[in-house]
Amino acid sequence: MESAATGGGAIVLARYDEIREALFAPDLSRTFDRRSWAEGNIRDGVVSVQHGPVHRARRRVENSQFRPDRLRLYERDLFPGVLATWVDRIVEDGRVDLFALGELLSVVLAARRAGIDHDPDSRDQLDELVGYVDVFSQGSAILDARDPDAVRVLYRRTMLEFGERYVTPSRVPREAAIARFRAGELAEDELPHDILTVLLLHRDDPAMELDGDRLVREVATYLQGGTHTSSQTLVNGVDLIFPVAARDPGIWTRIADDRAFAQRCVHETLRLRPTTPKIKRHAEADLVVAGTRIPAGATVVLDAAAANRDPRLFGDAPDAFDPDRRIDPSVARWGLSFGAGAHQCPGRSVAGGFPAPAPETAADEEHIFGLSALMLQEIARRGVRPDPDRTPERDTRTERFTRWASYPVLIGPRPAA
Ligand code: HEM
Repeated sequence: MESAATGGGAIVLARYDEIREALFAPDLSRTFDRRSWAEGNIRDGVVSVQHGPVHRARRRVENSQFRPDRLRLYERDLFPGVLATWVDRIVEDGRVDLFALGELLSVVLAARRAGIDHDPDSRDQLDELVGYVDVFSQGSAILDARDPDAVRVLYRRTMLEFGERYVTPSRVPREAAIARFRAGELAEDELPHDILTVLLLHRDDPAMELDGDRLVREVATYLQGGTHTSSQTLVNGVDLIFPVAARDPGIWTRIADDRAFAQRCVHETLRLRPTTPKIKRHAEADLVVAGTRIPAGATVVLDAAAANRDPRLFGDAPDAFDPDRRIDPSVARWGLSFGAGAHQCPGRSVAGGFPAPAPETAADEEHIFGLSALMLQEIARRGVRPDPDRTPERDTRTERFTRWASYPVLIGPRPAA
């Protein structure tokens, strides 16, 4: 696997160990645009582009919403209800766009975790939130956008609307609860458990740098992070499973009956189709990563998609979709698809669950399988096959090869031959 190549002026690292070293390097940041929001930087101040002490302060506060007890509540108590309610409502005449279905299922709990009050039974509101997520996702992938200026204009307008329509009303009950907590009338554990509440609680801490509209954009980051990636992963999973199922239809029964296998299918999907195939970093100072000299100001491209196919770590035939593959015990089955180091995805256990046990080992009682595995199992149980009349479309607004705009499928038992 080639490394330290320079592509378009950037330094490219493509080996697993090099990428991990880069992701832990304190002098590599995600701060590509130093302008303020007023000057046109749509990502100004969000956790994903913060660096150093401010980033650490934010993550310390926000990570509290991803503790195992929260994950279990979502996976065991709340998400089964979301699946039961929404899959039937969205599938029409046995047809559905799997990408839209995945987004709608994911946004219900993503909004709850972000602290965005909404009517979970209102299709209109959920569609509106999904529309916002689509715009925020284009904004978060601005480095790979084909038309960044168009994305900037749309993003600014949408963020304003999202703030007015959802964040401002959601603040009211939370600020009241925080006032009661500060007056000693409420215990901290009785406050709402969501990102907006913890941000409001810590907003005056100067280490957080959460002034102005940054709070709105931070909440939007969590709404988007919890929705778009999970849906893309569901679609990529089905897209990888269809050719396998054409040779071995039993794979759908295995997914439906065995949640651990469904989880390994999700991890195998993430390995082969990372939602961020190339992770980017900016050199804040001269540094050396795994023997490669990187000058201050350089852009470093970390080719996670290539590293995830290293045969020394992921076994023979690394390009094949094989959820039962043997992997080196030092790596995760999803490879580098949730990143590593300071910016490692805080939502990795929400979407992907805890690291999957080896195929022959049963998961323990505390195990979290991840919401993507539950979605995949649900559609496997109902029956899913390609829609012969409609072709899936890739999202051509970004250069990320793993993103879809729509993925029509048929849902329901296969008719007898
Ligand atoms: C299959 C699902 C997901 C994938 C593949 C994914 C992938 C990633 C990756 C690769 C990063 C790090 C990017 C970098 O280092 O440059 C990241 C960061 C992030 N993710 Fe996820 N993610 C997923 C689900 C989620 C969920 C469910 C949430 C929230 C509930 C979330 C919220 C975030 C946030 C806020 C960051 C920025 C963290 C920081 O910069 O410190 N993600 N994600």
